[in-house]
Amino acid sequence: MSFPPPRDLAPAEKTIASRRPPEGGAAVRGSYDTVAESYAELIGRGMEPEAVWERGVLGVFAESLAPGGTVGDLGCGTGRVAGYLRGLGVSVVGVDLSPGMLRVAARDHREVAFAAGDMTRLPLASGVLAGALAWYSTVHSSDDDVAAMAGEFARVLTPGGVLCVAFKVGPDGSKPAAWLQHAYGHTVRLPVYRRPVDDLCALLARHGLAETARVVRQPEDREPTPQGFLLLRRAA
Ligand SMILES: C[S@@+](CC[C@H](N)C(=O)[O-])C[C@H]1O[C@@H](n2cnc3c(N)ncnc32)[C@H](O)[C@@H]1O
Repeated sequence: MSFPPPRDLAPAEKTIASRRPPEGGAAVRGSYDTVAESYAELIGRGMEPEAVWERGVLGVFAESLAPGGTVGDLGCGTGRVAGYLRGLGVSVVGVDLSPGMLRVAARDHREVAFAAGDMTRLPLASGVLAGALAWYSTVHSSDDDVAAMAGEFARVLTPGGVLCVAFKVGPDGSKPAAWLQHAYGHTVRLPVYRRPVDDLCALLARHGLAETARVVRQPEDREPTPQGFLLLRRAA
């Protein structure tokens, strides 16, 4: 398999810098560079004990993978989900746009390989992943950028490979539902998209990613809006 060198972020960053960033990519990257340490402190370094649905979805995802296959945690942030999957015995490579988030990820999850990269043009060879995970990493991206990401998810997955997406659910994903101005104790500027489940499934289906299952968790104390989880499969 040809992954970019684990923890050696410089070569991958150089490659990314020479390409056109996604719409709003610089703001997303800058915001997450700023919040990286606080994100790890506040969100934690693993999956929260109260996140029963999330852990359930990740458990099904892990069990759906071809034995021995590698998962790409795409938009891995500080690596908390990559580390969780590694703990379930899954081989994982994490990719993120933000060098700040990746530095924390590499420090806190030494058992996982990480590389800088943009989901709209992934630094991974075609067909190398048994599974791809986009865990709340599309929530700041426009429909056009998510369409580009969907093409990349399908490209890097092996035929029959599994995609798992966690996202925010709302009535209209064509424009941001909100703008985050402050997060994790810092000033940021991040659009937040909330998408109808059917719209996201239709977008992914256009790239050969067929829905296997969906879960919508209704609002509760820690999250005021519905959260969506999708499992999809690339055609064999
Ligand atoms: C809400 S955080 C989620 C991080 C992690 N998946 C988690 O659940 O803790 C969103 C992450 O997606 C990354 N991201 C956003 N757009 C990206 C893109 N186009 N390519 C790669 N990473 C991206 C951000 O840098 C950030 O780390």
